[in-house]
Amino acid sequence: MKNKIPTHVGIIMDGNGRWATRQGLKRTDGHYAGYKRLKQTALHILSKGVKVLSVFAFSTENFGRSEEEVSYLMSLFVKAFKSDKKFFIKNNIKVVFSGRHEPLSDEVWNVMREIEESTKDCTGGVFNFCINYGGQSEIVDASKTIAKLYKEDKISLDEIDTNTFYKYLYNDLPPIDLLIRTSGEIRISNFMLYSISYSELYFTSTCFPDFDEIEFDKALDDYQSRNITKGKIK
Ligand code: FPP
Repeated sequence: MKNKIPTHVGIIMDGNGRWATRQGLKRTDGHYAGYKRLKQTALHILSKGVKVLSVFAFSTENFGRSEEEVSYLMSLFVKAFKSDKKFFIKNNIKVVFSGRHEPLSDEVWNVMREIEESTKDCTGGVFNFCINYGGQSEIVDASKTIAKLYKEDKISLDEIDTNTFYKYLYNDLPPIDLLIRTSGEIRISNFMLYSISYSELYFTSTCFPDFDEIEFDKALDDYQSRNITKGKIK
């Protein structure tokens, strides 16, 4: 349908390292450029009427990168979530996080909780940062939550179906309508597996630090040109 706006957009922000290396910069410079780009493009995406934006900022596997890169990203998270609190409040954006606590440091964890708390009443869109996140782990953790509630007689099995299952994920968000991956890789890499069941997929060779408003509009045009059936009538 022309002009249909996706409710939930997901982005696998890939290619920061390659973007930096191609310009003779350090990989960490690429992450900083990605962070700057994210703030700018995110506002544009939400201004289009998208209600939820989920981004893959750090996977559970990313802890396997060099000590320098991991500690750079962790300190970027701390600095950004401290200094951007005003930015999110000013733009009326509610910030949430998806992912496991361990092995994130308390410093990172606390700053994440703090910005969630400060923006919890914002109503102009939700920004879901996936940090120390894995899609399979999310489904396992949701299943454990359900098992615990069942054991405590707090839910019945009849209450669990494919729609109510979302409630037990890290955040109760609508399914992803449009999933974008930058940098030319054509894979999902364990990102929001439950939520992307019926997503439209968009892959671009543009590296994330160059993924600007024009690049997002191309993805949106492509989405709007598709015949989205979600398995129903064509
Ligand atoms: C993948 O590119 C990107 C990451 C592992 C990190 C993404 C993080 C950001 C964009 C910063 C976000 C900042 C905040 C504060 C949320 P890559 O490094 O794997 O690129 P490559 O495949 O070219 O090496």
